[in-house]
Amino acid sequence: MPILECQKVSKAYGGLLAVSDLSFAVEPGEVYAIVGPNGAGKTSLFDCISGVNPATSGVIKFKDREIQGLRAHQISRLGLARTFQTTVAFDSQTVLTNVLVGSTFGRDGENATLSFKNQAQDDALDALALCGLGGRQRTLAGQLPVLARKRLMLATALAMRPKMLLLDEPFGGLNPAERGQMIELIRMVAKTGMTILMIEHVMKAVQALADRILVIHHGQQITIGPPSTVLRDRRVIEVYLGNLVPTGPEGAPPGA
Ligand SMILES: Nc1ncnc2c1ncn2[C@@H]1O[C@H](COP(=O)(O)OP(=O)(O)O)[C@@H](O)[C@H]1O
Ligand SMILES: [Mg+2]
Repeated sequence: MPILECQKVSKAYGGLLAVSDLSFAVEPGEVYAIVGPNGAGKTSLFDCISGVNPATSGVIKFKDREIQGLRAHQISRLGLARTFQTTVAFDSQTVLTNVLVGSTFGRDGENATLSFKNQAQDDALDALALCGLGGRQRTLAGQLPVLARKRLMLATALAMRPKMLLLDEPFGGLNPAERGQMIELIRMVAKTGMTILMIEHVMKAVQALADRILVIHHGQQITIGPPSTVLRDRRVIEVYLGNLVPTGPEGAPPGA
């Protein structure tokens, strides 16, 4: 049984249909990538799934429960955590405080009890260690370089002890060496059995990590399949690479 299922999900902003009738299902333990050119509707889809900005129509099921009507904090407490395309953190707070926010408020529990606080503290420290930030607990988040900020956002999500992670462009803004480190980190998280739905532009990372890929364009599905077939699909090469590599007025990405 899938852990996450989208059935005919659409998202309109006024007259603009950013996500159009998308249906797909993610199996437990899978690393599932969503790719597509800028403006394809990837982040809008994540906003619908995570309750940040609800879907206009369609059904979204997480662990067989309909979540499309729930608020973001309710969805995260069911065990679905996300990171954002732009790294967000409480910049004036320490790394540890940031992750404690995830482990304390990101899930259900009786906030007042000592055991809850101890558990939150343990989960925060575990997440920091896994993400390679164990030695930086007292650093202010605003002082972290980009890769460490991305590690922090991932640690904050993991500290919630989610069943599934949504990662929005975890490789954006990283240089090739840093990308390699991020691939290792995500691979390690996946090895713990975590289900991961990931939006990504960096094809090398998608190839290295994804079990399956969903390609979207103008909010619509182009194809779904394993990297070996999807990345050789002619339509994918046309819409995806054609839009990313500026080749003249028609081939240029929107806004380039
Ligand atoms: N909050 C919003 N209000 C209006 N239009 C939006 C909003 N967010 C995104 N869009 C538009 O929806 C389309 C899809 O955007 P987005 O989901 O960010 O794409 P992607 O993440 O694939 O680059 C774009 O045309 C974008 O301009
Ligand atoms: Mg986006």
